[in-house]
Amino acid sequence: MKTVAVINQKGGVGKTTTTINLATALAAVDKKVLIVDLDPQGNSSTGLGMPKVRGLESSYGVLLGMVHAKDVIQETYVKGLYVISSTIDLAAAEVELFQQSDRESRLKKALSNLDFDYVFIDCPPGFGLININSLNASNKIIIPLQCEFYALEGLTQLFNTIQSVRSTINKDLMVGGILLTMYDRRNNLSRTIEEDVRSHFGNLVFDTVIPRNVRISEAASYGRPVILHDIRSSGAISYIELAREFLGRESNGE
Ligand SMILES: Nc1ncnc2c1ncn2[C@@H]1O[C@H](COP(=O)(O)OP(=O)(O)O)[C@@H](O)[C@H]1O
Ligand SMILES: [Mg+2]
Repeated sequence: MKTVAVINQKGGVGKTTTTINLATALAAVDKKVLIVDLDPQGNSSTGLGMPKVRGLESSYGVLLGMVHAKDVIQETYVKGLYVISSTIDLAAAEVELFQQSDRESRLKKALSNLDFDYVFIDCPPGFGLININSLNASNKIIIPLQCEFYALEGLTQLFNTIQSVRSTINKDLMVGGILLTMYDRRNNLSRTIEEDVRSHFGNLVFDTVIPRNVRISEAASYGRPVILHDIRSSGAISYIELAREFLGRESNGE
């Protein structure tokens, strides 16, 4: 089982979209995949059309050690894809966790005995205890980067956080890749940002780029991954391509 945190401290950069669509594309090639929704807003749960869950039957209960993860895993309508939904209660978890022992390894412990090929953690923005738990529980991280003017701002801070997690609680944490999202081919800014990011980070950047595509946001509002909404859309095609590249990197041990 590989656990992958989809993380960037900024909101609105494509974390949830990437989690849902990469997970769906992997389930489509017969991988057994779990999404853990750790954002109190619950976008990856609603983006998969999941009904609202109550209090503890959620990632909140799991993080606080009050329920077993296996008891709150829900099947989605995508074959092979499962989810642990979040609730708004999760917003309080930062404070509640702070008062507990093992506060940085709650999630790691909770996910340790599950049986999946991949677990994707849809992270909230910021660098709070929830995200420290995410980074501690993960083998790999994927960093979605929105192609906009301030894209690179904050990356240094993210890499510093990763480094400090590595040197303290999770020495094996790898950066699986930086993913350029919401790329606009008609816009010079997107191209400039791509060149910048590739020259800074080289091979860490996925070759696959996710274009800005209205089908992606439309799909989310219907509670569907874009791959099921419109498989011919540029958004669907690029997430399928990302899954292929991700699996290629996995088999090369990257
Ligand atoms: N490639 C894309 N093209 C168009 N809209 C996108 C794309 N990726 C994400 N979006 C939309 O942008 C918004 C923010 O994306 P989201 O994945 O929720 O970001 P995050 O989880 O980082 O906050 C959502 O409304 C989503 O539907
Ligand atoms: Mg999100």
